[in-house]
Amino acid sequence: MLSGGTPSAEPSASKEVAKTSTSSAAPALAAEVAPPPPPRPDPAYVVAAKSRRKIPFWAMATLSLLPVWAFFYLLAVSPQEREASGPMAIGEAAYGACASCHGAAGQGGAGRVLHEGEVLKTFPHIEDMLNFVYTGSQPYVSANLAVYGNPDREGGAHAPLSYNGNAMPAQGESWGGGLSNYEILGVVCHERYAIGGADPKSEQWAAEYAMWCSEDSEIFAALEAGSVDFETLAETFSMLETPPREVGTQARPSK
Ligand code: HEC
Repeated sequence: MLSGGTPSAEPSASKEVAKTSTSSAAPALAAEVAPPPPPRPDPAYVVAAKSRRKIPFWAMATLSLLPVWAFFYLLAVSPQEREASGPMAIGEAAYGACASCHGAAGQGGAGRVLHEGEVLKTFPHIEDMLNFVYTGSQPYVSANLAVYGNPDREGGAHAPLSYNGNAMPAQGESWGGGLSNYEILGVVCHERYAIGGADPKSEQWAAEYAMWCSEDSEIFAALEAGSVDFETLAETFSMLETPPREVGTQARPSK
C-alpha cells in the first residue's frame, strides 16, 4: 500500500500546486477541525409532538361561533320562547289580518273600535264573539237580525252594517273565511285580553281566561286537534264546572 507514504512522497510538490489544488488541501483542514458532534436524535415522543399539527385551522372559526350558539340555546330554553304556542300567541299572529281595519291596538278605522273595553261591551260572553267573528255581519242581515252582540249594550246595541255600512268579513270556513276554529279562538282571545282591556287576573275575567285563552285551555287544545268544532264544543265540554255556552256557526241572537 502506498497510502502511508503519500504526504512525504511529494516533498517537491510546488507551493503553487498546493495552493491551487483545493482538493488535496481540504482533507488536511477537515482533519484539523474536529467535526461538530452530530445532533442527538430526538426521542420518538418529541418527534411525534413536533410533527403533530397544533390547533386545527378551523378551530378558531368554530370557537368564534360559540357565543352565537349560546345565544340561540338560551333563546330556545327561555320561557318566552315556550309561550309561542297557545291561544294568545296564535291570536297575536292571526290579528295581523284584522289590524288593517281595526288598528294594531284596536283603536278602530275601517272596522269598529275594539280597545278600552268597547268589544267587551258588545260581547260580555266570549261564545257570542266567537260566533260573530266566525259568521261576520252579512249572515245577520240575511237572517233579519236587528242586532249582533248584547241587545242591552252600554252605549247602544250594534246593528249589522251600522258602523260605516260595511260588513265585518266572515272568518269561519263554512262562510268562506280563512281561519280555522282554533285561530278564531286565538284572535278573539287577543282582542279581549291583549287589546280589549279584559284583565286575565281580575275576578270578572279570570275564569273565562282560564277556560278559553290560557296555555292550558282544554277547549283550545281540542279545537286545535280538531276533536271538537264550534257546533259540538258546548256539548263535549258540558261536564265542566261552568260549562261553555253554545257557539255555533250560524247568525243568532246573543244569549
Ligand atoms: C275589511 C275590514 C275588516 C277586517 C279585515 C276585519 N274587520 Fe272586524 N269589523 C269590520 C267592520 C266594518 C265591523 C262592523 C260590522 C258591522 O257594522 O256590521 C267589524 C266588526 C267587528 C267586531 C264587532 C265589534 C263590535 O263591538 O261591534 C269584531 C269583534 C270584529 N270585527 C273582529 C274582527 C277580527 C277578529 C278580524 C280579523 C280576523 C276582523 N274583525 C277583521 C271590518 C273588518
